[in-house]
Amino acid sequence: MDSIQLQKKPIGELVREDYRTAEVLSRWKLDYCCGGKRNLEDACSREGADLVEVTKALEEVLAHPVGRSMDYNSWATPFLIDHIEQVHHQYVKKSLPVLVTTAQKVALRHGKEYPYLETVFFEVKALSQELESHLAKEENILFPYIRQLVIAHAKGQNVLKPPFGTVNNPISMMESEHTDAGDSLSHIRTLTGDLVPPEAACTSWRVLYAQLLEFEADLHTHIHLENNLLFPRAIQLEKEVV
Ligand SMILES: [Fe+2]
Ligand SMILES: [Fe+2]
Repeated sequence: MDSIQLQKKPIGELVREDYRTAEVLSRWKLDYCCGGKRNLEDACSREGADLVEVTKALEEVLAHPVGRSMDYNSWATPFLIDHIEQVHHQYVKKSLPVLVTTAQKVALRHGKEYPYLETVFFEVKALSQELESHLAKEENILFPYIRQLVIAHAKGQNVLKPPFGTVNNPISMMESEHTDAGDSLSHIRTLTGDLVPPEAACTSWRVLYAQLLEFEADLHTHIHLENNLLFPRAIQLEKEVV
């Protein structure tokens, strides 16, 4: 699809074809829900949004494939940590406020008729708070210590005993928080019939489920990289250094 075709496309259709465009449209307050029949050009002129800029942002999103596979195992530990922080932590930080807003909007609009949507909203809100503190602990305590272990190992030096005793302690805590986050997402799946929107669901409701599916997929990769790759390496490094 070239830029002209994109600009002539109804924005509701755009979101249905690729839910990731919803975030871009929301950024410029373009209403893809009730105003979804308007094409991008009309929607932008109505809201006074810069058509060229919006088109560019949409094209950027559409240019990236949704899934990808990488040989994480071959990556050096500092690069693995950078990747986790720059890709997964940034993603969680960016997508959680969007998820909370969408979940709240859907709960307010349809929660009376479908009370489970209110529970979904509360789960999403709680998950958002828990993950915020989880990421901070990894970024401020655990990951800097693992970086220290890598440097000490390379130089054949020792590291000072950390305040948390051994790396096994924060790792156990992070693993248990990963399990909690996974449980919240499983609960959301149970509540929503595996995130399949009902026939009557409006666009925002469909966007919420699509965003949750994307979030879940990203979190699975994120947790896999930590539990299965990074943490065992850190435990081994500590054994060799301390
Ligand atoms: Fe993490
Ligand atoms: Fe984590």
